[in-house]
Amino acid sequence: PRESWPRKEGLTWSLFSIGRANAFTINCSGFDQYGVNPAVLQAIFDQKDFRPFINYSIPTHVNISFTLSAILEVNVQLQLLTSFLWVKMIWNNPFISWNPKECGNINKFAVTAENLWLPDIFIVESTDVDQIPEGLSAYMTHEGDIVYNKPARITSVCSLDIFYFPFDQQNCTLTFSSFIYTAETMSLGMDREVWEIVDTSRDIVFRQGEWELLGISKATLKTFVGSRLFDRIAFFLAIRRRPSLYVINLLVPSSFLIAIDALSFYLPAENENRAPFKITLLLGYNVFLLRMSDLLPASGTPLISVYFALCLSLMVVSLLETIFITHLLHLATTQPPPMPRWLHSLLLYCTGSRRCYPTAHQKENKGLGLTPSHLPGLKEPGELVGKEPGPREAKRNGGSELTRAQLTDLWMEFGCRMDTFLFRLYLLFLASSVITVIVLWNT
Ligand SMILES: *[C@@H]1O[C@H](CO)[C@@H](O)[C@H](O)[C@H]1NC(C)=O
Ligand SMILES: *[C@@H]1O[C@H](CO)[C@@H](O)[C@H](O)[C@H]1NC(C)=O
Ligand SMILES: *[C@@H]1O[C@H](CO)[C@@H](O)[C@H](O)[C@H]1NC(C)=O
Ligand SMILES: *[C@@H]1O[C@H](CO)[C@@H](O)[C@H](O)[C@H]1NC(C)=O
Repeated sequence: PRESWPRKEGLTWSLFSIGRANAFTINCSGFDQYGVNPAVLQAIFDQKDFRPFINYSIPTHVNISFTLSAILEVNVQLQLLTSFLWVKMIWNNPFISWNPKECGNINKFAVTAENLWLPDIFIVESTDVDQIPEGLSAYMTHEGDIVYNKPARITSVCSLDIFYFPFDQQNCTLTFSSFIYTAETMSLGMDREVWEIVDTSRDIVFRQGEWELLGISKATLKTFVGSRLFDRIAFFLAIRRRPSLYVINLLVPSSFLIAIDALSFYLPAENENRAPFKITLLLGYNVFLLRMSDLLPASGTPLISVYFALCLSLMVVSLLETIFITHLLHLATTQPPPMPRWLHSLLLYCTGSRRCYPTAHQKENKGLGLTPSHLPGLKEPGELVGKEPGPREAKRNGGSELTRAQLTDLWMEFGCRMDTFLFRLYLLFLASSVITVIVLWNT
């Protein structure tokens, strides 16, 4: 009980000084000689549990600013942005003032923040309790302004859209607001202009790292929470991902593989290497996707996943095409099925004088120097002539007088044409999908 006496005295004394309004000044005799005498500040420290006001109707004006020093994590799965801020708050305590001339020209000095009333400013989007390190200090100026800086690791809710990954931009909001003080008792203002915040933030962090700060914009709001009106300031952080890591690790290898897949159409269709080659590519692509799945966002469907799926399906389609053509050529050389008349006419019409696949006859004449082994199909018909024609062949051959060798040639020609046609279709589809993806990324 004895110890509580001085405190009680201090309280009554400060209540008395409230009555006298801001005529209160600190007696600072000896500030420069003996350091600050705690006794002269005790009255202020004792008041720390209450908002310092002289007239209740005048709200405490808190000016805030911050420096964004790091983007620590952008979590797509939980839709969270973890950032590190240096928050600065300035407000005025009307009970603090002294005359610097009487006080050895001391304009301001630091005080442990625990001893002062602090505004309860928090970030509305935050999902984590702000862990402020202990023992922070604040500056007091001779005019009663308190300057308080605190570091804050903010994990805030942000609606992240990763459709354009890795060329995505995000727009995250940080809204500063008081917990309990409504607009009548606390108003918020800006300590610095927004462009100054952007400049310092850029200087500090955004040289390196995955995210680049594009800009910050600001909106001052008056928001009703229930029936109470709060003064708030919202900052919109526009950040952009630096895509080079993803371009090098994801897009370039994928593009190379798909380019090789396209080029493998130039392997002759009748050669048996094409299908195994494509299977190897497909396997390689799957290994690539497995290895790189860590780099992709954990949830959502970015365009790049669609692109990978498209590349994979194109590879599968090209493999299927190779199987189809190989089957066709195999049929043509072993057991050419009857060729429908319309197909025959179409083939003759389309081919004209240019032939995709040289007949045995043409080949010898032109002396192309191709070995028979290169075109295995051409030798075999002769061997197979003795074979019985299938029932379908008998039905079809009705009026036509195609010899087996001619039929084989025609089917080979058809297979070759088909291959070229499907290759062009493939190229067209590849080009249009790549262009679509690039255009989408650029918008
Ligand atoms: C300030 O305090 C000193 C002693 O601590 C005292 O001598 C002096 O008169 C005081 N000045 C005023 C203006 O109260
Ligand atoms: C408090 O401030 C209000 C509005 O500024 C004013 O009308 C009122 O007279 C003030 N009260 C005192 C005690 O100064
Ligand atoms: C807050 O900012 C406003 C406008 O910039 C300024 O007039 C006021 O003095 C500032 N308040 C403090 C406590 O710095
Ligand atoms: C971010 O979103 C807010 C509204 O939610 C908008 O006012 C602001 O202009 C946006 N900023 C950018 C850079 O797109």
